[in-house]
Amino acid sequence: MSIAAFPAADPEAARPAGAVADAGRRALAFHPTRFEYPPEMNVIWHRTRPEFACAANGVSLLMPYVEPYVVRSIRAVASNLDGALHDETLAYLRQEGQHHAQHRRFNDLVVDRFGLLSISERWMSGVFERLTNVHNRRFGVAFAAGFEAVAFAAARWTADHASELFEDADPVPSGLFQWHLAEEVEHKCVAIDVYRAIGGGRVMYAAAMTLSAVLLALFAWINTMVMLVATRRVVHPMAHLNLVRWTVSFLFELLPTMVMSVSERHHPSQLADPLFYDLWLQENRAR
Ligand SMILES: [Fe+2]
Ligand SMILES: [Fe+2]
Repeated sequence: MSIAAFPAADPEAARPAGAVADAGRRALAFHPTRFEYPPEMNVIWHRTRPEFACAANGVSLLMPYVEPYVVRSIRAVASNLDGALHDETLAYLRQEGQHHAQHRRFNDLVVDRFGLLSISERWMSGVFERLTNVHNRRFGVAFAAGFEAVAFAAARWTADHASELFEDADPVPSGLFQWHLAEEVEHKCVAIDVYRAIGGGRVMYAAAMTLSAVLLALFAWINTMVMLVATRRVVHPMAHLNLVRWTVSFLFELLPTMVMSVSERHHPSQLADPLFYDLWLQENRAR
């Protein structure tokens, strides 16, 4: 795995000053990480399930647009936060900032190969520019919190299907997605805590979370189709069967998570984290 990360295998040692690790939630710290993409790397990086690489790339392409919006939204209220939540929020912002930077470098290779994706990139850029121009701070934070709930569901679904999704796959892009999802699990509580700290309500949260899921699904689908058509994988019935099967099983993970998340009694720390990412981080951060 060609990633360079500062070792911090002991979560207590990695805890930022003032951070509190509640039961069911982990201390949060920033770990500088950089993926090196070899020039000969095939951006359709799964040998036997190329449609999964197309779908994952389709999600990756959205990251340099959605995550900066999430960062801007949370950063706008960060100075109003106190104590442990303030420290965790700063670590969260640095994690998210790093995620989209790593995806940007990978996405450049994908767009180099599939030039039509630059049109979709313009659309994604326009959508998040418009959302930024709405200037509703609370909605931005609601969007960030909702997007985190969606990301956590994606992390759990991916962990449950890891053997099918990552066997026969190039370890470098696989590592990019696994690392990103592992950090999504690590910081699953921060944005919702920020949203509740600024007095956000359930209706706005539900609306913003739904919008985040719809935008993710819409752009992932457009981007996936561009790659399926360009690689002629679109004419393989198995590709569609696999995509439908994965989509349906993901919805069984996502929809209950979204419904549960809207309850005031619910907190993401109540959800069990997949062991898959703990093991992945232990193995890769320790190197
Ligand atoms: Fe992220
Ligand atoms: Fe996140």
